[in-house]
Amino acid sequence: MIVTNSEKETRALASQIGSMLSKGSVIALSGELGAGKTTFSQGLAKGLGVEEYVDSPTFSILKIYEGRLPLYHMDVYRLDEESMEDLGLDEYLFGDGVCLVEWPSRIDSLLPEETIAIDIEALSTGARAISIHSAKLYKGLMS
Ligand SMILES: Nc1ncnc2c1ncn2[C@@H]1O[C@H](COP(=O)(O)OP(=O)(O)OP(=O)(O)O)[C@@H](O)[C@H]1O
Ligand SMILES: [Mg+2]
Repeated sequence: MIVTNSEKETRALASQIGSMLSKGSVIALSGELGAGKTTFSQGLAKGLGVEEYVDSPTFSILKIYEGRLPLYHMDVYRLDEESMEDLGLDEYLFGDGVCLVEWPSRIDSLLPEETIAIDIEALSTGARAISIHSAKLYKGLMS
């Protein structure tokens, strides 16, 4: 678990993570409303070399950005496993880029085994606890 003390620190951490990802990486990003998911996503995209402005994919479900690798940014809040498969969106979980999924608990059973789960929890104004459930990534960040 890593504590960030500002939006800027969250962006920096996410950017560092973005620079460490590889083809096929899947990030399951959880956090309550206002926790910092969009902020984190923007930082991660930056670290992945995305220059375009990244906003919330809430209404479009999926947005694709061009970076060092393609970024598939999804918000599956309104979906479930069946509709995800009906729309063919599950293919992006096994695609040629990095897949960043917001509200991943809706589609738990579709997530690949190697999914990196990241949870953001608001501790107080300005502070966020960011839990990274990937030993490999966590060790890389700490070294
Ligand atoms: N340490 C921090 N890290 C990230 N954001 C922070 C931090 N401290 C305060 N904030 C503020 O929290 C807010 C996070 O908003 P953001 O839109 O990223 O959240 P979200 O999880 O995407 O929300 P929503 O569920 O509504 O989409 C911003 O206003 C940001 O400035
Ligand atoms: Mg958001």
